[in-house]
Amino acid sequence: MGSPDLKRTRSATDKPTKERIYVRTLAPSDLEACVALEEAAFIPSERCPRETFSYRLKVCPELCFGIFTIRRNKEYLLGHAIATKTLSPSVTESSMAVSTPRHFPHNPAGPTIALHSLAIQPAYQGRYLGTTLLQEYIQRMSMGGCVQRIALIARNRLVGFYGRFGFRCKGVSPIKFGGGEWMDLVLEI
Ligand SMILES: CC(C)(COP(=O)(O)OP(=O)(O)OC[C@H]1O[C@@H](n2cnc3c(N)ncnc32)[C@H](O)[C@@H]1OP(=O)(O)O)[C@@H](O)C(=O)NCCC(=O)NCCS
Repeated sequence: MGSPDLKRTRSATDKPTKERIYVRTLAPSDLEACVALEEAAFIPSERCPRETFSYRLKVCPELCFGIFTIRRNKEYLLGHAIATKTLSPSVTESSMAVSTPRHFPHNPAGPTIALHSLAIQPAYQGRYLGTTLLQEYIQRMSMGGCVQRIALIARNRLVGFYGRFGFRCKGVSPIKFGGGEWMDLVLEI
């Protein structure tokens, strides 16, 4: 992607600073940063567990992207999009489950990308980083022709946010993860 500048104002009296941001695929070495971001962005009942991040970053890093900035020559993860593939046309409990020796939640033959976690560091929310990351994600996943759709579940308040990218709401998901009601959202590619 072209690297958009992020204008950031620390306080009303500070001069605005500019940070270069960029998107890259994640790797197993990004595990700790992803776990920390998940803890910062989600309430405990909605967080993906560490072992599930570890599994996804190992088996399908090509479906997992981060949006980063650099400070003092060190990368900082500002947001992530973490997914697996499934044969189902929507996100299932099975695709979200923790892997075991007998259960492999990621099916590389699946035509559906199940986008399990989209999160931006709270201090950076509302600055279009989520938009930038999701746009880039959709664009990269649309290349190659193997993917038919991207599916996710979201709370009702976020249906409008995903609708901007072309996701259609398919109604209430049967998934019970984290309590309360989730909506099924699907973007056909
Ligand atoms: C949801 C999330 C990924 C959005 O990323 P973001 O960088 O904060 O959002 P953006 O700045 O790109 O927002 C773009 C637009 O969507 C709107 N929007 C963002 N988050 C929203 C929310 N929770 N509810 C309603 N609208 C929202 C913004 O107001 C903005 O609208 P505008 O163009 O009219 O100003 C981010 O807020 C986040 O990580 N939230 C906590 C974790 C979470 O809920 N993830 C989604 C799981 S399904």
